[in-house]
Amino acid sequence: MQITQSIYQIGVHDTQIDLFEGQFPVPDGMSYHSYLILDEKITVIDSVEISFSNEWLSHIKKLIGDKKPDYLIIQHMEPDHSGSIMHFMNLYPECTIAASQLAFTMMKNMFHTDFSNRRLILKNQNNLNLGNHCLHFFCAPFVHWPEVMMSYESTQQILFSADAFGSFGCTSSLDNWKNEARRYYFNIVGKYGVQVQQILNQLSTVEIQMICPLHGPILETQLSYYVHLYDKWSSYQPEQSGVTITYTSFYGNTKQAVLLLKNYLQKKGIQNISFIDLVRDDLSYAVSESFKNSHLILASPTYNGTCSAAMKNFLHHLTDRNFSNHTISLIENSTWSPMSIKSMKNILSMCKNIHYTNSTVQITSVIDSNTLNQIQQLADEIILSLQST
Ligand SMILES: [Fe+2]
Ligand SMILES: [Fe+2]
Repeated sequence: MQITQSIYQIGVHDTQIDLFEGQFPVPDGMSYHSYLILDEKITVIDSVEISFSNEWLSHIKKLIGDKKPDYLIIQHMEPDHSGSIMHFMNLYPECTIAASQLAFTMMKNMFHTDFSNRRLILKNQNNLNLGNHCLHFFCAPFVHWPEVMMSYESTQQILFSADAFGSFGCTSSLDNWKNEARRYYFNIVGKYGVQVQQILNQLSTVEIQMICPLHGPILETQLSYYVHLYDKWSSYQPEQSGVTITYTSFYGNTKQAVLLLKNYLQKKGIQNISFIDLVRDDLSYAVSESFKNSHLILASPTYNGTCSAAMKNFLHHLTDRNFSNHTISLIENSTWSPMSIKSMKNILSMCKNIHYTNSTVQITSVIDSNTLNQIQQLADEIILSLQST
């Protein structure tokens, strides 16, 4: 795909993959992008996952014929991008490979060579002149691995942003970008908000006309909107006023309580509600929706003297990603000794700036008039709180 007169997106679409990183469902597949700059120095930015080596190399061949690339820039060593480096370097033995020092250390570990006789070590703020184009490099440690660099092409003001601004899916359409980029961001990069803030600060010093990530659509318009979203996500601020209801239910009684709560909220005009069964729905969606909405409701039966295993697992997914700045409401169910609320709060105790609603709901086996009152009281408190966010 030609993206400017002299720059091409030469990556591949993986339509067969079911789980990205072996863990996140990708119902619309996954793209692994790579870029080629046709200039006095022919330059390729990043490679693709190893099973797509031949397809990727054929894209290069189609554009440059018998010419040889001068540079292979490696921004990120995760195998979805580094998998085809050896094939490329064997095919083009005179090519210089350019990357951060840490990326070369990772190459030595992965490929048993760090290309010491044909490499260029890049440092933060280094430039590389290609003829008409000039690449300027920004170190972006932990966005998403420590070796990551981003490349900024200064004549056309194009940012090659590595994993940042990437999304799940193969489409070039932006229709569902926000949902799939958010799910990608929080699940994969979410822990590293501080580092994302740092690179956003560095990038604010340059004009950007186009963002070329390693996954998902290229961003060409409304760039301030996408940067604003990334700023919000990486500062752990909720994206919108809304409610995420997450629950586990053994015999349907806890589910009945959260359904009653959801219906009451909807009747009162609350529209932004996500409703998630932590056993049946994939956790990557639960994580993404929880960061998105300002309010999170956690409902779990007591099990083995604590909350349910699925709830525990979900809460650890949140705390691992520095979940903070949210309002939380707790619902528990027990037949003899209620322990869910205590154990959920205990796991969340490490989160910063968490506010708990005064109201909770405590179900004793089944919903009764007392539970109904508690649900209504909680809903009213949430509505008031939403109105003030
Ligand atoms: Fe990555
Ligand atoms: Fe990636």
